[in-house]
Amino acid sequence: MLSQEDIIVTKTDLRGHLTYTNDVFLKISAVAEEQALGSPHNFIRHPDMPAGIYKLLWDSISTRQELFAYVKNLALDGAHYWVLAHATPSYDKHGKHVGYHSMRRSASRGAIAQIEPVYAQMRAAETGLTGRARADASFACLRALLAERDLTYSQWIWRIVEDH
Ligand SMILES: Cc1cc2nc3c(=O)[nH]c(=O)nc-3n(C[C@H](O)[C@H](O)[C@H](O)COP(=O)(O)O)c2cc1C
Repeated sequence: MLSQEDIIVTKTDLRGHLTYTNDVFLKISAVAEEQALGSPHNFIRHPDMPAGIYKLLWDSISTRQELFAYVKNLALDGAHYWVLAHATPSYDKHGKHVGYHSMRRSASRGAIAQIEPVYAQMRAAETGLTGRARADASFACLRALLAERDLTYSQWIWRIVEDH
Protein backbone atom coordinates (compact mmCIF):
# COMPACT_ATOMS: atom_id res chain seq x y z
CA MET A 1 0.00 0.00 0.00
CA LEU A 2 1.18 3.46 -0.90
CA SER A 3 1.15 5.85 2.08
CA GLN A 4 0.56 9.61 1.95
CA GLU A 5 4.26 10.29 2.57
CA ASP A 6 5.63 7.94 -0.11
CA ILE A 7 7.20 9.39 -3.22
CA ILE A 8 7.79 7.09 -6.18
CA VAL A 9 10.75 8.15 -8.31
CA THR A 10 11.92 6.80 -11.65
CA LYS A 11 14.29 8.01 -14.34
CA THR A 12 14.42 6.81 -17.93
CA ASP A 13 16.54 7.16 -21.03
CA LEU A 14 15.14 8.92 -24.11
CA ARG A 15 13.19 5.79 -25.14
CA GLY A 16 11.46 5.49 -21.75
CA HIS A 17 13.58 2.58 -20.52
CA LEU A 18 14.26 2.70 -16.78
CA THR A 19 17.70 3.89 -15.67
CA TYR A 20 16.82 4.53 -12.00
CA THR A 21 14.09 3.45 -9.59
CA ASN A 22 13.81 4.28 -5.90
CA ASP A 23 12.96 1.66 -3.28
CA VAL A 24 9.35 2.85 -3.05
CA PHE A 25 8.90 2.09 -6.77
CA LEU A 26 10.42 -1.37 -6.43
CA LYS A 27 8.28 -2.21 -3.42
CA ILE A 28 4.96 -0.95 -4.80
CA SER A 29 5.64 -2.56 -8.21
CA ALA A 30 6.65 -5.89 -6.59
CA VAL A 31 9.73 -5.97 -8.80
CA ALA A 32 13.48 -6.46 -8.22
CA GLU A 33 15.84 -3.67 -9.24
CA GLU A 34 17.72 -5.97 -11.67
CA GLN A 35 14.42 -6.74 -13.38
CA ALA A 36 13.26 -3.11 -13.52
CA LEU A 37 16.42 -1.39 -14.79
CA GLY A 38 16.57 -1.43 -18.58
CA SER A 39 12.88 -2.33 -18.90
CA PRO A 40 10.49 -0.10 -20.81
CA HIS A 41 8.34 1.94 -18.39
CA ASN A 42 5.17 0.48 -19.86
CA PHE A 43 5.66 -2.77 -17.94
CA ILE A 44 3.57 -1.13 -15.18
CA ARG A 45 0.91 0.15 -17.61
CA HIS A 46 -2.61 -0.60 -16.37
CA PRO A 47 -5.13 -1.55 -19.09
CA ASP A 48 -7.62 1.00 -17.70
CA MET A 49 -5.30 3.86 -18.64
CA PRO A 50 -6.33 5.67 -21.84
CA ALA A 51 -3.74 5.88 -24.59
CA GLY A 52 -4.46 9.62 -24.92
CA ILE A 53 -2.83 10.33 -21.56
CA TYR A 54 0.42 8.72 -22.70
CA LYS A 55 0.21 10.64 -25.97
CA LEU A 56 -0.11 13.86 -23.93
CA LEU A 57 2.78 12.75 -21.70
CA TRP A 58 5.17 12.05 -24.56
CA ASP A 59 4.06 15.08 -26.62
CA SER A 60 4.81 17.24 -23.55
CA ILE A 61 8.08 15.85 -22.23
CA SER A 62 9.64 15.31 -25.65
CA THR A 63 9.08 19.03 -26.37
CA ARG A 64 10.73 20.19 -23.13
CA GLN A 65 7.52 20.63 -21.15
CA GLU A 66 6.58 19.09 -17.83
CA LEU A 67 3.33 17.22 -17.25
CA PHE A 68 1.17 16.38 -14.24
CA ALA A 69 -1.24 13.46 -14.71
CA TYR A 70 -3.31 11.09 -12.66
CA VAL A 71 -2.13 7.57 -13.43
CA LYS A 72 -3.33 4.10 -12.48
CA ASN A 73 -0.41 1.69 -12.43
CA LEU A 74 -0.07 -2.06 -12.21
CA ALA A 75 2.23 -4.00 -9.89
CA LEU A 76 3.71 -7.31 -11.04
CA ASP A 77 1.74 -9.11 -8.31
CA GLY A 78 -1.49 -7.88 -9.96
CA ALA A 79 -2.22 -5.05 -7.48
CA HIS A 80 -2.85 -1.53 -8.74
CA TYR A 81 -2.40 1.95 -7.30
CA TRP A 82 -3.33 5.50 -8.32
CA VAL A 83 -0.85 8.37 -8.28
CA LEU A 84 -0.56 12.00 -9.24
CA ALA A 85 2.55 11.91 -11.42
CA HIS A 86 4.89 14.67 -12.49
CA ALA A 87 7.25 14.01 -15.41
CA THR A 88 9.97 16.22 -16.89
CA PRO A 89 12.82 15.95 -19.38
CA SER A 90 16.35 15.88 -17.89
CA TYR A 91 19.44 17.52 -19.29
CA ASP A 92 23.18 17.10 -18.76
CA LYS A 93 25.42 20.04 -17.78
CA HIS A 94 25.70 21.10 -21.44
CA GLY A 95 21.93 21.31 -21.77
CA LYS A 96 21.74 18.12 -23.84
CA HIS A 97 18.50 16.22 -23.40
CA VAL A 98 19.49 12.88 -21.88
CA GLY A 99 16.29 11.33 -20.53
CA TYR A 100 13.25 11.80 -18.33
CA HIS A 101 12.45 12.01 -14.64
CA SER A 102 9.20 11.30 -12.82
CA MET A 103 7.91 11.67 -9.25
CA ARG A 104 4.55 10.41 -8.06
CA ARG A 105 2.47 10.63 -4.92
CA SER A 106 -0.61 8.72 -3.88
CA ALA A 107 -3.83 10.14 -5.39
CA SER A 108 -6.78 10.86 -3.11
CA ARG A 109 -10.05 8.95 -3.39
CA GLY A 110 -11.89 12.13 -4.29
CA ALA A 111 -9.47 12.87 -7.12
CA ILE A 112 -9.72 9.32 -8.46
CA ALA A 113 -13.53 9.62 -8.47
CA GLN A 114 -13.20 12.73 -10.68
CA ILE A 115 -10.70 11.14 -13.03
CA GLU A 116 -12.17 7.67 -13.55
CA PRO A 117 -15.28 8.68 -15.55
CA VAL A 118 -13.18 10.87 -17.86
CA TYR A 119 -10.68 8.07 -18.48
CA ALA A 120 -13.58 5.64 -19.07
CA GLN A 121 -14.95 7.93 -21.80
CA MET A 122 -11.50 8.23 -23.33
CA ARG A 123 -11.16 4.44 -23.39
CA ALA A 124 -14.59 4.13 -24.98
CA ALA A 125 -13.40 6.48 -27.75
CA GLU A 126 -10.50 4.07 -28.41
CA THR A 127 -12.76 1.11 -29.17
CA GLY A 128 -11.74 -0.77 -32.30
CA LEU A 129 -8.66 1.38 -32.89
CA THR A 130 -4.96 0.61 -32.54
CA GLY A 131 -1.67 2.49 -32.48
CA ARG A 132 -1.61 6.17 -33.28
CA ALA A 133 -5.30 6.30 -34.31
CA ARG A 134 -6.23 4.96 -30.89
CA ALA A 135 -4.13 7.53 -29.02
CA ASP A 136 -5.40 10.36 -31.24
CA ALA A 137 -9.08 9.42 -30.74
CA SER A 138 -8.56 9.10 -27.00
CA PHE A 139 -6.83 12.48 -26.78
CA ALA A 140 -9.48 14.12 -28.99
CA CYS A 141 -12.09 12.81 -26.54
CA LEU A 142 -10.21 14.40 -23.62
CA ARG A 143 -10.01 17.71 -25.47
CA ALA A 144 -13.74 17.62 -26.22
CA LEU A 145 -14.59 16.85 -22.57
CA LEU A 146 -12.37 19.71 -21.39
CA ALA A 147 -13.84 22.09 -24.00
CA GLU A 148 -17.34 21.27 -22.66
CA ARG A 149 -16.10 22.37 -19.22
CA ASP A 150 -14.25 25.36 -20.66
CA LEU A 151 -11.03 24.21 -19.00
CA THR A 152 -7.48 23.64 -20.19
CA TYR A 153 -5.87 20.35 -19.17
CA SER A 154 -3.77 22.12 -16.49
CA GLN A 155 -6.77 23.97 -15.10
CA TRP A 156 -8.66 20.68 -14.87
CA ILE A 157 -5.83 18.89 -13.05
CA TRP A 158 -5.18 21.73 -10.60
CA ARG A 159 -8.88 22.12 -9.84
CA ILE A 160 -8.97 18.42 -8.91
CA VAL A 161 -5.79 18.74 -6.81
CA GLU A 162 -7.16 21.77 -4.97
CA ASP A 163 -10.61 20.24 -4.38
CA HIS A 164 -9.23 17.05 -2.82
C1 LIG B 1 9.69 9.51 -16.92
C2 LIG B 1 8.56 8.62 -17.40
C3 LIG B 1 7.68 8.09 -16.47
C4 LIG B 1 6.64 7.26 -16.87
N1 LIG B 1 5.82 6.74 -15.92
C5 LIG B 1 4.87 5.84 -16.29
C6 LIG B 1 4.07 5.20 -15.32
O1 LIG B 1 4.16 5.46 -14.11
N2 LIG B 1 3.14 4.30 -15.75
C7 LIG B 1 2.97 4.00 -17.07
O2 LIG B 1 2.14 3.16 -17.41
N3 LIG B 1 3.71 4.63 -18.02
C8 LIG B 1 4.64 5.52 -17.65
N4 LIG B 1 5.40 6.14 -18.61
C9 LIG B 1 4.99 6.02 -20.03
C10 LIG B 1 5.46 4.75 -20.70
O3 LIG B 1 6.75 4.97 -21.24
C11 LIG B 1 4.48 4.34 -21.83
O4 LIG B 1 4.35 5.40 -22.75
C12 LIG B 1 3.06 4.01 -21.29
O5 LIG B 1 3.14 3.03 -20.29
C13 LIG B 1 2.15 3.50 -22.42
O6 LIG B 1 2.71 2.40 -22.98
P1 LIG B 1 2.24 1.85 -24.40
O7 LIG B 1 2.34 2.99 -25.34
O8 LIG B 1 3.16 0.72 -24.71
O9 LIG B 1 0.81 1.42 -24.23
C14 LIG B 1 6.46 6.96 -18.25
C15 LIG B 1 7.34 7.50 -19.19
C16 LIG B 1 8.39 8.32 -18.78
C17 LIG B 1 9.33 8.87 -19.79
